[in-house]
Amino acid sequence: MNAQEPRRIKIFDTTLRDGEQSPGASMNLEEKLKIAEVLEKMGVDVIEAGFPIASNGDFEAVRLVASKIKDSTVCGLARSSRRDIDRAAEALEPAASKRIHTFISTSPLHMKFKLQMEPEQVYRAVIDSVSYARKFTDDVEWSPEDGSRTEHDFLCRCVEAAIEAGARTINIPDTVGYAIPSEFAALIEMLFNRVPNIDKAVISVHCHNDLGLAVANSLAAVQKGAGQIECTINGLGERAGNAALEEIVMALKTRQDLMPFATGIKTENIMRASRLVSSITGFPVQPNKAIVGANAFAHESGIHQDGMLKNAQTYEIMTPESVGLGHSKLVMGKHSGRHAFREKLKELGYGEVGDNTLQQVFGRFKELADKKKEVFDEDIVALLDETVAETSERIRFVSLGIQCGSKGPQKAELALEIDGKTTEATATGNGPVDATFSAIKALFPHEAKLQLYQVHAVTQGTDAQAEVTVRLEENGRTVNGQGSDIDTMVASARAYVHALNKLLTKRQKTAPAALSA
Ligand code: KIV
Ligand code: ZN
Repeated sequence: MNAQEPRRIKIFDTTLRDGEQSPGASMNLEEKLKIAEVLEKMGVDVIEAGFPIASNGDFEAVRLVASKIKDSTVCGLARSSRRDIDRAAEALEPAASKRIHTFISTSPLHMKFKLQMEPEQVYRAVIDSVSYARKFTDDVEWSPEDGSRTEHDFLCRCVEAAIEAGARTINIPDTVGYAIPSEFAALIEMLFNRVPNIDKAVISVHCHNDLGLAVANSLAAVQKGAGQIECTINGLGERAGNAALEEIVMALKTRQDLMPFATGIKTENIMRASRLVSSITGFPVQPNKAIVGANAFAHESGIHQDGMLKNAQTYEIMTPESVGLGHSKLVMGKHSGRHAFREKLKELGYGEVGDNTLQQVFGRFKELADKKKEVFDEDIVALLDETVAETSERIRFVSLGIQCGSKGPQKAELALEIDGKTTEATATGNGPVDATFSAIKALFPHEAKLQLYQVHAVTQGTDAQAEVTVRLEENGRTVNGQGSDIDTMVASARAYVHALNKLLTKRQKTAPAALSA
């Protein structure tokens, strides 16, 4: 390596695996593929696509991602059992580049209470699992779960044994988000000093955010020699989440003076990835969230605005364009034609969109442009994502009329197309949303329970589109539906119908007989 060249840090994204472990953040196959495609385009080195033994859905997702993604390594998680590893290997079989990630707990607490295994049994399981995984691929990663609370002597022994057995990446997790940066940095340094064969593997870190320190811990580890960071879009993940990819990458890019490391991430794709993950999971991004929050590049106070006008660097340490919030080259309005619209979709990173989808989304764009003064990129992204999701659905939204206000009763007149036939119903309720959802239930009776109803404005202004998320639960299965429209009630109906369609797809996969409403 050239002396001037910054050390290359691999970015390992686990949004589809650890991220999906956030309660309520379930994603279906198509959604996982869509996210994987954005991650690949962004230049993520490794995509952890799921935990294949966990469920058939996880297995299928890893297999689908493995068959479509070519530029990133696709990884599947496995415990240290041979059955887990077999299943991961089977799911990864179509991958152009695959990795098996196997793990076992090594902390005294986890070994005693969770595994009920003696340290020597765990030590043998490390060797057995890594050598077994190596039969399927050279690219094996091993993790000592709860690594940051593991006794150092035992951790060193296990890491050395895993490398000796063939692991090419050793990932040190701060599973419970307990470490603080100086301590975590010292742990990584200790491993470099004490494990004799450490130079044969890349050291990775996987930090949880229980104390809000996941990003700080990851960066501290990199400064001590770690070569891979595991992270998720928007910091999604178990409990308080994982280290946020966008924060890690932008910190490394912005502070080259103190952290002379490079990633392969094309940062202009960050906003697209953040919005996609937020809209699919129904997990909103807090407005003041670093890098991707709505206010991350907004300047409110007069003094700041004055400074910005004189020189943007006075209050901006990175440009909005660098994370994909750039000034658009093509401004869209009601006079824009199909050709410009197709170009706009390319500019937004969608590549070639099929003619049918283009036709539908262009039609909806025209309707929106008639109602709304300015159509922003965010509006088009919301319309496109929704139109693509709707194409293969059994139930379709047709129209909605609402009577609401303080006098009541609130009433909804709804038309849906179900299996190609349009039907109509009128329902009243405690407010227009309740009335709308009751009308859906009247047209398509079901037992699913509403778990979340959430509205957010796609852009600013009173004519902004509303983006609604509806989470439904049926027999322990949860799904998130999204809908967007300039009318919040229409967006709500679309979101509910979207969630219902997803439940039907899930039912179909598990119990074909239960397909009727
Ligand atoms: O947090 C954790 O320890 C994990 C492992 C499976 C790497 O997610
Ligand atoms: Zn984790």
